[in-house]
Amino acid sequence: MKKRRDVRFLPSATRSAVFACLCVLALAACGSPKAAPEKRVPADAPYKDAKRPVEERVADLLSRMTLEEKIGQMTQLEKGSVKSGDVRTLSLGSVLSGGGGSPRPNTPAAWADMIDGFQDEALSTRLGIPVLYGVDSVHGHNNLRNATVFPHNIGLGAAGDAELTRAIGAATAEETLATGIPWTFAPCVAVARDPRWGRTYESFSQDPLAVSALGAAFIRGFQGADGTAGAAPGTGPSPIATAKHFLGDGAARWGTSLTGNYKIDQGDATGDDAYLRAALLPPYIEAVNAGVRTVMVSFSSWNGVKMHAQKGLIADLLKGRLGFTGFVVSDWGGMDQIDGDYYTAMVTGINAGVDMNMVPYDGRTFIQVVSRAVAAGDIPMGRIDDAVSRILRVKFEMGLFEAPKANRALASTIRSAEHLALAREAVAKSQVVLKNAAPSADSSAVLPLDPTAKVYVAGGAADNIGIQCGGWTMEWQGRSGPITEGTTVLEAIREAVGAENTSYEAQARFAERDRSAVCVVVVGELPYAEGMGDSAALSLSAGDIGTIELARKSFDRVVLLVLSGRPIVLGSEALACDAIVASWLPGTEAGGVADVLFGKVRPTGRLSFDWLKTVDQLPQDRFMSGAETPLWPVGFGLSW
Ligand code: GLC
Repeated sequence: MKKRRDVRFLPSATRSAVFACLCVLALAACGSPKAAPEKRVPADAPYKDAKRPVEERVADLLSRMTLEEKIGQMTQLEKGSVKSGDVRTLSLGSVLSGGGGSPRPNTPAAWADMIDGFQDEALSTRLGIPVLYGVDSVHGHNNLRNATVFPHNIGLGAAGDAELTRAIGAATAEETLATGIPWTFAPCVAVARDPRWGRTYESFSQDPLAVSALGAAFIRGFQGADGTAGAAPGTGPSPIATAKHFLGDGAARWGTSLTGNYKIDQGDATGDDAYLRAALLPPYIEAVNAGVRTVMVSFSSWNGVKMHAQKGLIADLLKGRLGFTGFVVSDWGGMDQIDGDYYTAMVTGINAGVDMNMVPYDGRTFIQVVSRAVAAGDIPMGRIDDAVSRILRVKFEMGLFEAPKANRALASTIRSAEHLALAREAVAKSQVVLKNAAPSADSSAVLPLDPTAKVYVAGGAADNIGIQCGGWTMEWQGRSGPITEGTTVLEAIREAVGAENTSYEAQARFAERDRSAVCVVVVGELPYAEGMGDSAALSLSAGDIGTIELARKSFDRVVLLVLSGRPIVLGSEALACDAIVASWLPGTEAGGVADVLFGKVRPTGRLSFDWLKTVDQLPQDRFMSGAETPLWPVGFGLSW
């Protein structure tokens, strides 16, 4: 598109003449100019009648909207950028909580009060279009303190159980709805191809078919039985999910990121059409088939072009050929990355098919720029109407007009016995036993452990809910320490063998010890999210290696638990342990880890990623092509 001369730099007289012309054009572009929008909308306006077909309600409401009201619906702001009155004056379509965007206090009631407050403003506008609130409930309602935090997707990929994933989607919906939020930016259906990526743990698998099955299962669980949003009248809006990040977020190549000091996150994925269709598209085909109502665009690029600018993939492929009828939301300021000129970036992104812009800060500038672009004919009115129709369609479908307020009765499901049991089951099913040797010729394999015998526990990750949960928990990046309620690995072991039979020393410097007993060493990655977790080395910390070494000197039998968001490089000390278990990022219910360690649950977890020997072997495609041999292949996992 030719570069537009920015009118802000013209002489003022010229500028006002130009602006007058643009206004006239704007009126022409909006069809027959209305003298003024109707002040009061009749109570029997068709769009207010829930018995009418959704498409009829959409058409009627659209016909009553001004251009500013339409662009307001396309605007999503982060709650911290929404001042009192903004929802109303900007006719905002959506508000979100970014990672860690919790109210104070961080309680279900405070969440519901905050969001109902935004809703009251939206319902007081001329047309009374409800605001749609979104949050990243990516492994439970992970911004809510004392919610049930489930294993991150890499663990669910190791469990490989679609029904379990569906049930987790449903449980996550209940705890999210309880706080007034009907929209989650999940599941991430990335097909991760390089564990150096800081978002690997958000990916179910390196295998697109596994990602497709589990992503669709989560969508069906979160949105409801048949995967299409359908409101249960009077109980609050029905929940909607997001397939993200469209597409190829997990296929970027190391060293191609242009964002800050990120190395691979938001980088460039390259390939031909055959690769796109075989490796990257299947999860979106299944997500559309499962009835997903929103798709989020990826920050990354495809063959050197930002995904937010890819009309051929968003408008033509996703909406056209795949027949996606929901709406497309940008990622966090993702459209800004298209071009250094904001006007050009917004025009390109919206014309490519983005329907809602996660701005997320300066809504006024966005609305002004898009209004100008419509007046100038750079964004066709038809594109605006398509975007707004999609947004309204989803809002009508989910019953947001009929039941816009929080469904507070669901607060009883938060950390309910049922949800905790489900999380514990998911943790157990996600454990992958990578090694289980007998320490001597005349002894049996170390696992399962004897629940009547003494156990020594070491490792900095053994008693740390924050490490267990990883990123996207309480804060965007997560945080080490007692950040929320739950059971640590150490507490779970104590529960299994009794406190009197459990000794814990983080560095394995036990004052007294019985060297014939078992030592369980729990090591792990400190929490991270997105590009902050991009890692060149993927290695254990020196502290963890030191703890493993001392444990191996002090005990005849050592079991190593690895709490990581991805396969990591295990050096000789780690590999020499008698047993090794990949526990991934299990979340708050580590009882599931002990259930496998002590034989209450037989291990069934299988690797959903090839496990590397060294980073020189990457990316994963080289394992998949046979060019490299992994330490343990995808599908590997021991049992007894
Ligand atoms: C982030 C992530 C995206 C998330 C969004 C809102 O930058 O890329 O996954 O849904 O912003 O928090």
